[in-house]
Amino acid sequence: MNKLGIIGAMELEVEQLKSEMTVDAISKKAGMDFYEGILNGTRVVVVRSGVGKVNAALCTQILADLFAVTHIINTGVAGSLNPALDIGDILISTDALHHDVDASIFGYRPGEVPQLGIREFPASQELAQAAKVACEKVNPDIHAVLGRVVSGDQFISDKAVKDRLIREFQGDCTEMEGASIAQGAYLNDIPFVIIRAISDKADDSAQMDYPVFEAAAAKHSAALVREMAGRLS
Ligand code: ADE
Repeated sequence: MNKLGIIGAMELEVEQLKSEMTVDAISKKAGMDFYEGILNGTRVVVVRSGVGKVNAALCTQILADLFAVTHIINTGVAGSLNPALDIGDILISTDALHHDVDASIFGYRPGEVPQLGIREFPASQELAQAAKVACEKVNPDIHAVLGRVVSGDQFISDKAVKDRLIREFQGDCTEMEGASIAQGAYLNDIPFVIIRAISDKADDSAQMDYPVFEAAAAKHSAALVREMAGRLS
């Protein structure tokens, strides 16, 4: 039987899911509250990790060790890098990498964590497909695209930085947790997918757009994840 670990960085990204699930238990670890129960017929553990890659990595390891989840889904918002992704659209991950890791002086590619032997952590195609189908069902008017998530411990709000993330990493969206979750899932051999609704364009307009579009974007991503959960029992 599947048990989905569902991670959102911020309360806004998980509050809807928590209110829609039946909760059997809540346990605290590393300052995070893990909600165990049933969401749309499927066993889940829903958790707010907190913002950034360290929080996300800790959360992923706890889901693996203490909750034995079979799949990991990251829901939330992101800044778009791909001009085809507008505010309100949804990005479903094909893979994820760290844009703020750089050991290129030793011959590693920018973004590659030394000695892992991999730079882009591949998302589960099965989960990505389930996300696409779920999106067509619950958000038929929303444009959903498969693509690459590039993550770092920075809120990107500068056109020059955005352009570098596109040039160096061919990213489709940027956020602050996905690659850590992907790396943790990869190291623990757990299939994962990242679902991100676009809240801003990661350029000089991001500071203005993010607070305006964040809540609606987070809700769309969560609605998709709820529908997806129903297909993964
Ligand atoms: N999350 C949403 N928008 C973002 C941005 N522009 N940079 C990093 N994380 C984000």
